[in-house]
Amino acid sequence: MESHLISNIKSRSANIGIIGMGYVGLPLIIRFVEEGFKTIGFDIDEQKVNILNAGENYIKHIDDKKIKTIVKNGFKATTDFSEISSVDIIIICVPTPLSVDKKPDLSYIRGTLQSIKKHLKKNQLMILESTSYPGTTEEEIVSLIKRKGFLIGDNYFIGYSPEREDPGNPNYTTKTIPKVVSGFTKNCLELTNELYGQVIDQTVPVSSTRAAEMTKILENIHRAVNIGLVNELKMVTDKMDIDIYEVIEAASTKPFGFTPYYPGPGLGGHCIPIDPFYLTWKAKELGMETRFIELAGEVNSNMPYYVVNKVDEALNTIGKSISDSRILVLGLAYKKNVDDTRESPSLTIIDLLIKKGADVQYSDPYLPEAPKTRKYNFELKSIKISKETIKGFDLILLSTDHDDVDYKLIENESKLIVDTRGKLRHSDNVFSA
Ligand SMILES: NC(=O)c1ccc[n+]([C@@H]2O[C@H](COP(=O)([O-])OP(=O)(O)OC[C@H]3O[C@@H](n4cnc5c(N)ncnc54)[C@H](O)[C@@H]3O)[C@@H](O)[C@H]2O)c1
Repeated sequence: MESHLISNIKSRSANIGIIGMGYVGLPLIIRFVEEGFKTIGFDIDEQKVNILNAGENYIKHIDDKKIKTIVKNGFKATTDFSEISSVDIIIICVPTPLSVDKKPDLSYIRGTLQSIKKHLKKNQLMILESTSYPGTTEEEIVSLIKRKGFLIGDNYFIGYSPEREDPGNPNYTTKTIPKVVSGFTKNCLELTNELYGQVIDQTVPVSSTRAAEMTKILENIHRAVNIGLVNELKMVTDKMDIDIYEVIEAASTKPFGFTPYYPGPGLGGHCIPIDPFYLTWKAKELGMETRFIELAGEVNSNMPYYVVNKVDEALNTIGKSISDSRILVLGLAYKKNVDDTRESPSLTIIDLLIKKGADVQYSDPYLPEAPKTRKYNFELKSIKISKETIKGFDLILLSTDHDDVDYKLIENESKLIVDTRGKLRHSDNVFSA
């Protein structure tokens, strides 16, 4: 094996290039710069590049000071992919969404490879971090490098290491979350493991890039299926007049064999609603079915409709209907204490309510304006919660339970509340959904 690369990694003199400076790429950049690695960030989004180079930040849960510090320490961002030839390590963190018909959309990975392929040079280590089905690293990256005539494991190295992030959770950081690492050959694994070992407390080597890809997908299927299960049970217990949250709390006292999952208005975020379907698609190629994934997907994606039915039911009790009501949706983000609205069920719910004729507003301390997405453009601004504003609404729909909200005020002043998070369920005027 080319010994320079491993010694450069160990001495932290290896140059790092991170492609895709989003929720995954940016924290990783910060980590490498903090440990003294010279790091360049690549993105096709010129605005992001300019913001970072000016020492500014665009991700709310990342500390602004950290961006200033990395820029001071020599980090630079660029849209010029020819600079790939100046780095020793390439880490790809670009999006892997689903197409409208739930097929993997690898166009971002392919676009990246297209723009860097003529700038690649021998003795680089290229690592994919984007989530995808088992086989992606081999099919997309190994094949490209082979076509270039490089010898993988000898004069070019390829790894896969899935990202694990829990934005908004103060208990874990990029440094302290154990990281699964893999390589296409033994040498590739050794380098990948050594690299992440410099910046992450614990690495978890696995035997192949396919095993590492599958590990990430398993983690997300595990959540999607269990959330689907508890969402289904919530609808059943509601009919039985049993409080699902009380049941989950009680079951959680079992010291073994039970992990609590909580119901909600549906699944959101970049990972859980999407990644499991990457496996479904790949399994179909092999003539296999993934019924748990499909069933959980069905239950979870029906939750916004269930919530809207609950809103209708609640309004009927005061002789109103959705079409003649003013409704305030609390929380746009897909989960609490973040500003991320990707796949957020709140957006689907707002859309359904508007289509049914309601006058809908929202309040979210993390999102002053409703972002324009591929599907929705509501042109709404966040309403500030006060006694007066609450009184102007027929119903308050708690969709995201951010901590930084005056729930006591909402509880006391609202005419009707529909609560999808179990936060206010003990009040009289509250319908659980
Ligand atoms: N967000 C999470 O919590 C999380 C957690 C684990 C894994 N992942 C996975 O990590 C990957 C990245 O997700 P993310 O949340 O960081 O996405 P993101 O949308 O926040 O960021 C992706 C970035 O890549 C850039 N980009 C797109 N195409 C590009 C190209 N051709 N060249 C260079 N840059 C390009 C975009 O402009 C954007 O800045 C996805 O595969 C995702 O499934 C995300």
